[in-house]
Amino acid sequence: MTRTKIAVIGGSGIYDIDGLEGAEWVQVDTPWGAPSDQILTGSLDGVDMAFLPRHGRGHVHSPTTVPYRANIDALKRLGVTDVISVSACGSFREEMAPGDFVVVDQFIDRTFAREKSFFGTGCVAHVSVAHPTCPRLSDACETAARDAGISVHRGGTYLAMEGPQFSTLAESQMYRESWGADVIGMTNMPEAKLAREAELCYASVAMITDYDSWHPDHGEVDVTQIIQTLMGNAEKGRALVKRLPALLGADRAPCQHGCDRALEYAILTAPD
Ligand code: ADE
Repeated sequence: MTRTKIAVIGGSGIYDIDGLEGAEWVQVDTPWGAPSDQILTGSLDGVDMAFLPRHGRGHVHSPTTVPYRANIDALKRLGVTDVISVSACGSFREEMAPGDFVVVDQFIDRTFAREKSFFGTGCVAHVSVAHPTCPRLSDACETAARDAGISVHRGGTYLAMEGPQFSTLAESQMYRESWGADVIGMTNMPEAKLAREAELCYASVAMITDYDSWHPDHGEVDVTQIIQTLMGNAEKGRALVKRLPALLGADRAPCQHGCDRALEYAILTAPD
């Protein structure tokens, strides 16, 4: 058994977490540069916790400029074992309504202007991301959401777009009708891929703020619409996070899905 350390990467509207014992903001430097912000560390119900505001306090990083590699590396250096992403998203499904949460299990990565790997120069590795999220962590997120009275959907495909502009109507319709995406956001990639390369368990909770642009009865998404739903979602997100330590426990066994051994057969470069 090893000690659990849960990291929460908070998206728009979530810039800290409540009730941390021994709370302290710490600076972590990495070979990939500085993370989005200092990291809030402490414990909750006897479990070690870390919190990183993805866009930085004051929302200074756009989805494209978030330092994804530095963020994941900084969490790894702090001894984090489990990463929960909490982020805003648009919905492509009538039944996935604004205010609902989705515990995402698949991604379509349409981002193109971000560094996506720790590997490539000096050491070449190809990890599997066929199943990019950890079912054990996703179970905990689903249970925590249900216990907090949140309307939650288990499973869904998240289309990660580059942004910063929202999608055109044609794109929105294509993602929904032809590609089978359920939700859309700008930040879960390459974060999920990097977490796998860092051998961290990763789960994603997508908090729906809007119906993007496809829905005939709803106007196309804009920031005003997102902010209206965001505040309520952030409150629910906090209630969910508060329940995670009790569900995950202070100690953990090796991941039964192998997230913590992702590099075992992935490295091609010969050792020196
Ligand atoms: N974040 C919240 N809503 C979004 C949308 N419709 N598209 C992309 N990112 C989003």
